[in-house]
Amino acid sequence: MTSAALFDLSGLNALVCGASQGIGKATAQLLAQQGARVVLLARNREALEKVRSTLTSPEQHLCVAADVSHAVELDSALENILSTWGTIDILINNAGGPAAGPLLEAEPSAFESALHTHVLAQLQLCKKLAPAMRSKRFGRIINVISTSVRIPIPNLGVSNTIRAAVAGFAKTLSQELAPHGITVNNVLPGYTETERLSALAQASATRSATSPEVIRENWLKQVPMHRFARPEEVAAALAFLASREAGYITGVSLQVDGGRIGAI
Ligand SMILES: NC(=O)c1ccc[n+]([C@@H]2O[C@H](COP(=O)([O-])OP(=O)(O)OC[C@H]3O[C@@H](n4cnc5c(N)ncnc54)[C@H](OP(=O)(O)O)[C@@H]3O)[C@@H](O)[C@H]2O)c1
Repeated sequence: MTSAALFDLSGLNALVCGASQGIGKATAQLLAQQGARVVLLARNREALEKVRSTLTSPEQHLCVAADVSHAVELDSALENILSTWGTIDILINNAGGPAAGPLLEAEPSAFESALHTHVLAQLQLCKKLAPAMRSKRFGRIINVISTSVRIPIPNLGVSNTIRAAVAGFAKTLSQELAPHGITVNNVLPGYTETERLSALAQASATRSATSPEVIRENWLKQVPMHRFARPEEVAAALAFLASREAGYITGVSLQVDGGRIGAI
C-alpha cells in the first residue's frame, strides 16, 4: 500500500464496467492505486488500453472489450474474466446513461435498450459473479446510478425510470446477499465533470436554443457548493464502499452531489 492509500485493497480483484472514461475511468485508477487488480470493461478497447496505461502497475490489470447490453457478448467476457482470474471481489456496475428527452417522446426501444444496459446486465453480472463471492464470504457490488432515484430529474424520463429499477434491484439483492458477507450499495453522482455532462449540456442547449455555458450556469445554481464534482470525488465514494472497512454498510444509496438534493 502506498503512503497515499485511502484503503488497502491489495489481494482483491475488481471489475469496473464503463472504465474507458468519466467516473468508471477515475474509479479504475483509484482502485488500482489502492492495490486492487482491475478488469477494465467497456466497448472501446483502444480507449481501455489507454486508461490501463495510466494505472498503478499497468501490467497486472486486464482490458475486456464488451457491450454489457449484449447478453451473449457479456457472458463470453465474464467467462474469460473468471477463467483468467478465478474470482471478482468488487463489481462496479456502471455504463452510459440513457439519452435525455421528455418521457412521452421516448420510443419503447429506448426503454428496452436502457433495460438491457442497466437492469439485465446487472442481473447477468451478479448471477455470474456472486457464487464465487459467496464461497469467499466476501464481495462488494456497487452500482453507479443517479440522484434521480431521490428526486427525478426533468427531461431524463427514460433514465429516471430505469434508475429506479436498478435501485429496487440493489436493495433486494443487498438483503439476499447480506448473510454471505456481500454488500450491495449504490453511489448517486450529482453533476460530475465528464463526457456525459458535456453531452447533456450540449443536448439541452440545442433544445432550448441557448449555449452549453448558460445551461451549465443554471445547473451550478442548483448546487450549494457551486461547482461540479470531479470524477475522482465520485470514485472516492466507490472506493470506500469497495473497501474491507465498509463491511457493515449495505443497501444504501450514497449521494455525491455537493449538497444538491434537499431531502434529509
Ligand atoms: N456525469 C454526471 O454528471 C452524472 C450524473 C448522474 C449520473 N451519472 C451516471 O453515472 C454513470 C457514469 O457517468 P459518466 O459521466 O462517467 O458517463 P460517460 O462519460 O458517458 O461514460 C460511460 C462509460 O460507460 C461505457 N459504456 C457505455 N455504454 C456501455 C455498454 N453498453 N457496454 C459497456 N460499456 C458501456 C462507456 O465506454 P464505451 O463507450 O467505450 O463503451 C464509458 O466508459 C452513467 O450511468 C451516468 O448516467 C452521471
